[in-house]
Amino acid sequence: MNIIFQSPRLYFRKFTTEDVQLLFDLNNNPNVIKYVHEPTPTLENITDILHNVIVPQYKLYGHGRWSMHLKSNDEFIGWCGLKYLKKFDEVDLGYRFKEEYWGKGYGYEAAKATIDYGFNGLKLATIYARALPENTASWKIMEKCKMQYVDNVIDDDGLMVKKYKITNGQFES
Ligand SMILES: CC(C)(COP(=O)(O)OP(=O)(O)OC[C@H]1O[C@@H](n2cnc3c(N)ncnc32)[C@H](O)[C@@H]1OP(=O)(O)O)[C@@H](O)C(=O)NCCC(=O)NCCS
Repeated sequence: MNIIFQSPRLYFRKFTTEDVQLLFDLNNNPNVIKYVHEPTPTLENITDILHNVIVPQYKLYGHGRWSMHLKSNDEFIGWCGLKYLKKFDEVDLGYRFKEEYWGKGYGYEAAKATIDYGFNGLKLATIYARALPENTASWKIMEKCKMQYVDNVIDDDGLMVKKYKITNGQFES
């Protein structure tokens, strides 16, 4: 297994095309996808996303959404990572955890480690993030990571989101 980076309690690896069931189980919870406006998962659409979006991104852009695991027992707990948004020419931070792991500080820990890797490992200049205003836990993570609020903007799916950014010089690991 190829570990890309780590945080105190977690490690991050690339998804492979074998990870369909992990992603299906993660998304197959209405609470998890409540604020992300994705269709109810099927094994078919998860396979399609994994094969045609998630895995190719590593080669195309040198980064992507990474599979997140507990160091203590290798358990898959969700994903965190970066995504190049062609339309905006921006690199976007995102995260998604299995519900049983919410509220334990993993969101902040993973986001901070990902930003650190983005700046110090990948030498990115700026990282952006977006969340629906009602997804308080998500934008709280951005603020805890010292990301700066930019504006409320209309996202690809027509919904208004809070947009944040952080530049390489602003980040303190
Ligand atoms: C959003 C998500 C990643 C948060 O992860 P988490 O591990 O629970 O977050 P943390 O434990 O690091 O908490 C981060 C902050 O949010 C706060 N928080 C957590 N859940 C909250 C809630 N439901 N309402 C308000 N604040 C909340 C925490 O108290 C903490 O703030 P604090 O340090 O000031 O106390 C997780 O709920 C998730 O995966 N949700 C489903 C997918 C999703 O919505 N992804 C984001 C799309 S933009």
